[in-house]
Amino acid sequence: MNQLLLDEGFPHRPRRELAPGAVHIPAWLTLEQQRWLVAQFNEWATGPVPIRAARVRGREMSVQMVCLGWHWQPYRYSRTATDVNGARVLDFPDWMARLGRKAVADAVEHTPSGEAYEPDVALVNYYDDSARMGMHQDKDELSRAPVVSLSIGDTCRFRFGNTESRNRPYTDIDLESGDLFVFGGPSRLAYHGVTKIYPGTAPSGCGLAQGRINITIRMTGMDG
Ligand code: SIN
Ligand code: MN
Repeated sequence: MNQLLLDEGFPHRPRRELAPGAVHIPAWLTLEQQRWLVAQFNEWATGPVPIRAARVRGREMSVQMVCLGWHWQPYRYSRTATDVNGARVLDFPDWMARLGRKAVADAVEHTPSGEAYEPDVALVNYYDDSARMGMHQDKDELSRAPVVSLSIGDTCRFRFGNTESRNRPYTDIDLESGDLFVFGGPSRLAYHGVTKIYPGTAPSGCGLAQGRINITIRMTGMDG
């Protein structure tokens, strides 16, 4: 492809539907939006519930997580971080609900049920060079509304599988800084994971010198 077109922002990585309801939209966030989100992340990470590696079946995850709206303390949501310091989790910001709605509207033509997308939780993960996330389903939510995933910083290798098991068939794609991935509808309970971080691939100007931030915006369907 012509370098001039690439330089002018021609979308050389096309939008792609990996499976029904699972859509990858490259370069959805501008660099300025990415920088702003990184600045927010730096505030979230320091408290009231500081960023931490959750323990799953006695082992610390390699990923560090901070939550908004609800605290995820493996496999359940609570308002207070009883597994960390007992503090109440930060509120889920209105601007993030709007961002989530825009993401779903851009990714999915119609929400299958016509249900309004009212996200109320974000899990914000930080990956260092060696962090990974094993294949899992996002199924701690009562609602089956779509999950919105935003990536900032280093590129990762993301594995998106099927709803039956963590094994094949799956598709590996690269999620770069600024990319959006939405999975809902028939793909809402698909297994997925992060198999690799590519150190040193964050674009200059994204606000993150090293590592990768992933923000997943979700709707718990829970009250209170
Ligand atoms: C997750 O599955 O919660 C995170 C996925 C990602 O980091 O892209
Ligand atoms: Mn997940």
